[in-house]
Amino acid sequence: MKHIVTAGLMTVSLSLGLAAFGSAQADEAMSNDAVKSRQMMMDGVGGAMGTLGCYMKGECDLPDPVLRNLANGIAFAASIAPGKFETNTTDASVKTTAKDEIWTDWADFSGRFPAMQQAAMKLAAAAGDKGAMGAAMGELGKSCKGCHDTYRAK
Ligand code: HEC
Repeated sequence: MKHIVTAGLMTVSLSLGLAAFGSAQADEAMSNDAVKSRQMMMDGVGGAMGTLGCYMKGECDLPDPVLRNLANGIAFAASIAPGKFETNTTDASVKTTAKDEIWTDWADFSGRFPAMQQAAMKLAAAAGDKGAMGAAMGELGKSCKGCHDTYRAK
């Protein structure tokens, strides 16, 4: 009888241990997905900036609607960015350059995206007018750099 009880307790503690292990793994998998998703979003923003930069330098000739789409894509990314960074991914096992300060200084971090969105919307409105686009690009670039300098590990 004593043996059966001990065996039963062991089964219970073993399955509790496995459950805890399982949920830690689920958290890690969720964090990894969150990291990949926000990196994809940022990559899209980087690609759009690169194409816009090509146009600004006179190396790519792009029609106004394409310029507008690129800028609007950046504005849209900025609008959903807080949601993409919400998950604290300090337990992620995939490579990330996101600093832990994102989640300890969340109000400052997430409060930077509206400036990015506004600059991108200005850029969209200026599509085709290189002078006005240049000013908006400068403003937009500042928002990227300001955040990366503070919240991205080199
Ligand atoms: C409020 C903060 C913030 C702003 C604004 C911001 N970024 Fe980022 N960006 C990040 C963080 C944090 C990461 C790191 C994500 C990671 O590795 O998990 C990142 C990563 C990136 C990456 C690398 C993605 C990858 O695959 O690792 C690119 C490219 C990028 N950003 C471009 C931009 C551009 C261009 C802008 C401006 C138009 C911009 N970002 C604005 C915070 C920001």
